[in-house]
Amino acid sequence: MSHAPLRFGLIGTGRIGQVHAASIAADPDAELAWIADPFVDGARTVAAAYGGTATDSSDELFASGEVDAILVASPTATHVDLIAQAVDAGIPVLCEKPIDLDIARVDALRAKVAAAGVPVALGFNRRFDPAFAAARARVAAGEIGALEQLTIISRDPSAPPSAYVAVSGGIFRDMTIHDVDMARFFLPEIVEVSAVGTTTFDPGAREHGDFDTAVTTLRAASGAVVTIINSRHSAVGYDQRLEAFGGTGMLQVANAPSSLVSLSTAAAVEAKPPYEQFFLERYAVAYAAELREFIKLARGEASTSPTFEDGRAALVLADAAQRAATERVVVAVDLG
Ligand SMILES: NC(=O)c1ccc[n+]([C@@H]2O[C@H](COP(=O)([O-])OP(=O)(O)OC[C@H]3O[C@@H](n4cnc5c(N)ncnc54)[C@H](O)[C@@H]3O)[C@@H](O)[C@H]2O)c1
Repeated sequence: MSHAPLRFGLIGTGRIGQVHAASIAADPDAELAWIADPFVDGARTVAAAYGGTATDSSDELFASGEVDAILVASPTATHVDLIAQAVDAGIPVLCEKPIDLDIARVDALRAKVAAAGVPVALGFNRRFDPAFAAARARVAAGEIGALEQLTIISRDPSAPPSAYVAVSGGIFRDMTIHDVDMARFFLPEIVEVSAVGTTTFDPGAREHGDFDTAVTTLRAASGAVVTIINSRHSAVGYDQRLEAFGGTGMLQVANAPSSLVSLSTAAAVEAKPPYEQFFLERYAVAYAAELREFIKLARGEASTSPTFEDGRAALVLADAAQRAATERVVVAVDLG
């Protein structure tokens, strides 16, 4: 069946909003209809590049009656209210992660989302990375037998500015939240969390009582164990790897090479430049695939888009890791 393109209202045109604008414009089943950002020059720049009407007010975007789907890419503190507004208007919404930094605010919205039946998806883009998705599909197909251990390594190229750390919610809610969602992609039923956080190099983390280095372990109901290794810096560049270890084998996802050209000399062999990309480049394909899956959801078709409940579960796990690291306790979790 052929459909008219889904008319998107994009809210927020910063780093990630610009990625989503490009994905919407590139997708034949989507078009950019409205763009809202209080920094209206940002909205205008996106409209000039990809089409649509720019406004400084998300209320005007909602009132236009000209959007079939909402994409929320504004700061985290705005997400809960914008999801609620979309649900009240009966408009499917894809919201960037996290839903909020405060689980009480997430839980206050939970019943409304569940009752409304309006599609709500969360922007856990890494599930749509072709390499991670292939590894997960091959685990599910039984290629390594029962999954016993999952190791996720996620290190950013360099620490964020101190001002960002101050409002980030801490490394577990800001960074590890992607990795606990990846853990649940493989092992949805996590029952226990432990974590260690230290500050080894970043004065910003020290200043704000945060960690720059963390290891989180999750126990799944099956008995499988997930180890998540995070650092706010990596001299070799953006480090995004995964290993799934099972009873009959192992699957590994390596870093994406920065170049296919390597230099070998008497001093070094197979030398390549560091991984220069950060998330916008590393996950470019994933963001586009995430959008395609959301379009299916918005049209009422079968979809694997991460749900509001997945967003909530990730925050519950991040909160548990924060508590485990701060209080040095093992935290039981119930994601039901
Ligand atoms: N999935 C990912 O890989 C990923 C990556 C980066 C950011 N994010 C998430 O996306 C969100 C935005 O992050 P960012 O890095 O793009 O931030 P940013 O600061 O670069 O951009 C935010 C934009 O939203 C605008 N804005 C502020 N208040 C607004 C409002 N009430 N309505 C509409 N627009 C508003 C700002 O003017 C700015 O242009 C955050 O929740 C963040 O956690 C997700």
